[in-house]
Amino acid sequence: MGWVQSYRDHGGCVFIDLRDREGITQIFFDPSFHPGAHQIARDLRSEWCIGVSGEVRARGGNINDKIPTGAIEIWADTIEVFSQAETPPFAIEDGTDTNEALRLRYRYLDLRRPRLQKNLIARSQITRSTRDYLSKNGFLEMETPFMAKYTPGGARNFLVPSRLNPGSFYALAESPQIFKQLLMVAGYERYFQIVRCFRDEDLRQDRQPEFTQIDIEMSFINEAVLQSMMEGLIATLWREVLGVEVTLPLRRMTFAEAMDKYGVDKPDLRLDLVLCDVTAACQGSGFRVFDAAIAAGSIVKCLRIPEGDRLSRSALDGLTDFAKSYGVKGVAFARVQEGGAWQAPFAKSFADAARAEVNRVAGAGPGDVLIFVADKPKVANTCMGAIRLHLGDKLGMIRKGEFQFMWLVDPPLFEIDDDTKHVAASHHPFTSPRVEDEPLLETDPGKVLARAYDLVLNGVEVGGGSIRIHRSDLQARVFRTLGISDEDARAKFGFLLDALKMGAPPHGGIAFGLDRLVMLMTGAESLREVIAFPKTQRGSDMMTDCPTPVSAKQLEELFIQLRPDLPTKG
Ligand code: AMO
Ligand code: AMP
Repeated sequence: MGWVQSYRDHGGCVFIDLRDREGITQIFFDPSFHPGAHQIARDLRSEWCIGVSGEVRARGGNINDKIPTGAIEIWADTIEVFSQAETPPFAIEDGTDTNEALRLRYRYLDLRRPRLQKNLIARSQITRSTRDYLSKNGFLEMETPFMAKYTPGGARNFLVPSRLNPGSFYALAESPQIFKQLLMVAGYERYFQIVRCFRDEDLRQDRQPEFTQIDIEMSFINEAVLQSMMEGLIATLWREVLGVEVTLPLRRMTFAEAMDKYGVDKPDLRLDLVLCDVTAACQGSGFRVFDAAIAAGSIVKCLRIPEGDRLSRSALDGLTDFAKSYGVKGVAFARVQEGGAWQAPFAKSFADAARAEVNRVAGAGPGDVLIFVADKPKVANTCMGAIRLHLGDKLGMIRKGEFQFMWLVDPPLFEIDDDTKHVAASHHPFTSPRVEDEPLLETDPGKVLARAYDLVLNGVEVGGGSIRIHRSDLQARVFRTLGISDEDARAKFGFLLDALKMGAPPHGGIAFGLDRLVMLMTGAESLREVIAFPKTQRGSDMMTDCPTPVSAKQLEELFIQLRPDLPTKG
């Protein structure tokens, strides 16, 4: 049974490539053998759904070694056409460049492609192995509500109006975070759920408005126990699904080191280039751009590119525009000559001693190109982190095919806005501060580090979690630092604060982005290749044409009135 991939009529004999989710099988119809079947076969067209029975025979000398069934074919004696197909709007094959909008509109046809079938089959294997591993290790699979109370502080929620409670709304859960913590308070000890999460975010290549987490929580543990349990899961998945042995334990890197060397909290370690901070080395260099920047509290970050003659003048100039999209004012370049001298527009105005010190810190030698950005730490790091990846890719220095894992640890508990000084939780407000940092909550929140960790794979955050706060008084202090008043905390999180007063166990957990894991494991280019029915950047489903307006009557039942000036969908 399957679909007609292709049809060839060779001097009376008909050959069909029959496709099902396992691949292709060649069917042979010979008029002198079974004229009835041959007669029907002559009318077959692409994507007709058929069933054939016959004899499996060796192909003899005509072996096709490109496909696993290439040594055999089926000599058909009967055929049944289950249904005919109109000519599909694009060929069902990989590697064609049909535009994605058309593919998404006919998603059920695109999903027939071998590549997508392979991805979704891998996805099924991944969830099955995950369930097996976690069940074997004593985790209970439990469900939590999708329609939940709105609580501030996380990702932006989708809201669902309540017909039975006019004017009130549910939020679609952005994650089961609070519920899984309450299951720990309730004594379930080890929980997991492969769960859909909903976030009304601006979408990018690695984000979807509804996505799936492997969500996990454990009681009576610390970071080391949780991380090694998760490393076991990762090693199991890689072994069972990909046949690859992952070397454990995985590498750990502090947030501070990641920012310093890679400019991001999710370094891609398939690329060996590292950044360095040359602020101190540049002190008093005499180069007015750097001197002025340093005086204003900026840092100077440097990236050394070995064999810099691979970078043409125009490639370097192009970098300036690339960098400006990250909000920096400029980029400076120097080519290092024999003896350590620089070839650069500003070389003359750069003091010899400072230049020698920069060379030393950057480890620069003849032939290298040095790239500099002077800016506020956040901007300089983000920009240089992006330049590192951009040039690494351009120069073919990223080792494709490797899996480079790392745990990012000791991140800051809070993000504090440079201008407004507004304090927000870096992860979520239920994350424990490090014990030794608790006294800083009131005095210097920016210095408090979190008992949190992310699992990073090839520059993508595939999972994140933390040890949670399990004491009501500490939770109340963190809410206060976040600028949530005691009354507000009561109104929004009273149930949690109460629960933490009822014998809450120490606990912690993590959630993996299943879609991202599948994407990286299958080598897919985007999340849309690993989700059966994904949404576009604008959050639409092109196949069903969703979202759509609803009738005035439906809105009225929900006590909702639209603004009269809204554009109509068209
Ligand atoms: P976090 O918000 O870091 O943590 O989410 C966990 C993981 O989910 C994936 N992810 C996404 N994948 C696709 N599309 C999205 N829009 C998207 N957003 C997140 C990422 C991320 O690492 N409750 C906490 C977990 C915990 O503390 O246990 C949480 O949701 O791979
Ligand atoms: P300008 O005086 O702005 O033309 O800058 C002189 C040189 O310094 C040029 O090579 C710029 O590309 C470079 N430059 C300017 N601003 C920065 C900056 N923030 N960081 C690094 N280089 C810069």
